This record gives sequence, C-alpha cells and structure tokens, in this order.
Amino acid sequence: MKILIIGGTGTIGRKVSAHFIATDEVIVVGRTTPTISVDITNINSIKEMFKKIGKIDAIISIVGEAKWAPLNDLTEEDFYIGIKSKLMGQVNIVRIGKEYLNKNGSITLTTGVLADDPVYMTTAAAMVNGGIHSFVLATALELENDCRINVVSPDFVEDAYEKYKDFFPGHNCIPMRKVINAYVRSVKGRVNGEIIRVYE
Ligand SMILES: NC(=O)c1ccc[n+]([C@@H]2O[C@H](COP(=O)([O-])OP(=O)(O)OC[C@H]3O[C@@H](n4cnc5c(N)ncnc54)[C@H](OP(=O)(O)O)[C@@H]3O)[C@@H](O)[C@H]2O)c1
Repeated sequence: MKILIIGGTGTIGRKVSAHFIATDEVIVVGRTTPTISVDITNINSIKEMFKKIGKIDAIISIVGEAKWAPLNDLTEEDFYIGIKSKLMGQVNIVRIGKEYLNKNGSITLTTGVLADDPVYMTTAAAMVNGGIHSFVLATALELENDCRINVVSPDFVEDAYEKYKDFFPGHNCIPMRKVINAYVRSVKGRVNGEIIRVYE
C-alpha cells in the first residue's frame, strides 16, 4: 500500500510511521519536512502536496492544533485557531485528498479523548474534536469508489506522558502499541465511519 502520513514526524505520527514503513510504501509529511511539506491551515499548500504525491491508497492525518485556556480567557480568535487547524485542516485534507485515493482507499483522521471526556481549559479543543467526529460519520455515507473514512480518538499517549500527565487527572495514558493498532485497524481493516476510541 502507498500510505501518506501527515503529521508523521510528531509524537504519535513517528510511531505510526515507523510501524507502516516496515510493510508499506510510506510518505511522511509534516510542516517542516524537507522534501514535501504542508501547512494544513492553507488549502493551497494541501493542494500542492497532493499534486506532488499523486495517487495513494491511504491517507493518515495525525495533525492539528487548538488553543487551551479557561473559557473566560478564550477570545473568538482563539476558537478559530482550532477551527482553522485541527478541524478545517483535516476537513480540507479529506475534501482534496479523496480525489487522490485509489479504489478501496481509506482516510484516517485524529481527534482525542476531549471529545467525550474533556478536562479543564479544553472548550475550544473539545469542540473541534466533536465536530470532526460528526464530519466523519456523515462523510462515510458519501465517499465513492469503495473508499472509507475513520477517526482515531486516543486518550493522552505514553510518549506524551510528561507533557500531559498533570492535565488529565485520573485518565489512562495509552501505550503506543494500542495507539498504533487503532490506525492499523482503520487502514488495513474494513471499518468505515467509525470513531475508534482508545481510552484504556
Ligand atoms: N499526544 C497526545 O497524547 C495526543 C492524544 C490524543 C490526540 N492527540 C492529537 O493528535 C495530533 C498529533 O498530536 P502529537 O502529540 O503527535 O503532536 P506533535 O508531537 O506536536 O506533532 C505534530 C505533527 O504535526 C505536524 N504539524 C503541526 N502543525 C502543522 C500544520 N499546520 N501543517 C502540517 N503539519 C503540521 C508537525 O510537523 P512539524 O514537526 O514539522 O511542525 C508534526 O509532524 C494532535 O491533533 C493532537 O491533538 C494527541
């Protein structure tokens, strides 16, 4: 399979990329990758990336930011950070990327536990994750050419333990093996329109 992994250099992305590189042809793209890079907040940059890469069997997106702050401190502009990056960035990856998928292809997006179990300071991030979940459910009804779409929604991951441990009291930090398997399930399995929750 020819697999594009956007955000494949990040904390989650680098482990997912390492897994698929062992068996598949993998193209890893990030904001600062040397050969092909992309800025998901810029639709022309997404179009350019797909034009350079051409036809593929699977798109994995493990990318997108949102502002963390107490609700009372968040401005309207702060909400747009997540809307432009994690939400519309991934929506545009789907809108453009579906035209580059081979028959039986798949798209896998990434959200996170905040959609279902938010913690303090995450109103903007939780909102965006929930929006992506609904987008995936609806898009699965319309993809053509036997293509599929799913979203992986992990709790905070083992490799980000130090960064997030104080923000997720009582949450289970997810072993990287389980996170990787969620992407494998989406890409190599037959599931469609599934929110693959990895919360324990
Ligand atoms: N870490 C967790 O515990 C966790 C848990 C649940 C969900 N998530 C979600 O999973 C996603 C990835 O998280 P992570 O912790 O792996 O992030 P990360 O370590 O910060 O890595 C982010 C990746 O995305 C790329 N990137 C960032 N902004 C971009 C942009 N505008 N356009 C294109 N690429 C961009 C980065 O490329 P460069 O390095 O070149 O900038 C990097 O490859 C996020 O949406 C996060 O909310 C994370």
